[in-house]
Amino acid sequence: MKITSAEFLKSAFDEADWPRDSIPEIAFLGRSNVGKSSLMNSLLGVRGLARTSSTPGRTQALNFFVINRKFRFVDLPGYGYARAPKAVKQKWSAAADDYLAKREQLVLSIHIVDSRHEPTKHDLQLQDWLKHYQRPNLIVATKSDKLSNNELRRNIARLIQVFASTDPIIYSATSGRGRVELWSAIEKSLKH
Ligand code: GTP
Ligand code: MG
Repeated sequence: MKITSAEFLKSAFDEADWPRDSIPEIAFLGRSNVGKSSLMNSLLGVRGLARTSSTPGRTQALNFFVINRKFRFVDLPGYGYARAPKAVKQKWSAAADDYLAKREQLVLSIHIVDSRHEPTKHDLQLQDWLKHYQRPNLIVATKSDKLSNNELRRNIARLIQVFASTDPIIYSATSGRGRVELWSAIEKSLKH
């Protein structure tokens, strides 16, 4: 995919603030600090479009980006950040749940996990949830540059087993590994 434009559109806390037109959306989901913003930036080939941070849990709203004026990326709030106050945590997941349950424009959900770690109970819940609502989704294992080939192979096998899923896309925002593969999955979902 050739990126001709990528613009931040808006942040939304409530459904009333979601864009109203019907262009398709790709959602990015995963636990806080997993590397969602970095992945989006590396896909688009721009630095700092989606804000990245070393402080987990900074992205609290749904953030909409318009790509090539044809489709949108949606950065959903990260879940499971242990140190967030309970009230804040509830607001995050309510915003993301609402979006996943209702959004007709959503054509693909990209569930990002850290290739170093075992999936959390929130990761498993999210998979159940996506299956329940029959949302097309794929799993992307990011930060793969932080592992040796052996560790990576072992962890990917574990992911496939725990999620009972097909091969996740192995990704690295640092090296760009997986970028071509992920784009082709995104393009396919936009063609439906
Ligand atoms: P929140 O929005 O705060 O929940 O975080 P996020 O999921 O958007 O994560 P973010 O992209 O901000 O990345 C978190 C940290 O991980 C940052 O310090 C990134 O530089 C680092 N990071 C993200 N992706 C990669 C990767 O593929 N490789 C390496 N080595 N570091 C990464
Ligand atoms: Mg982020």
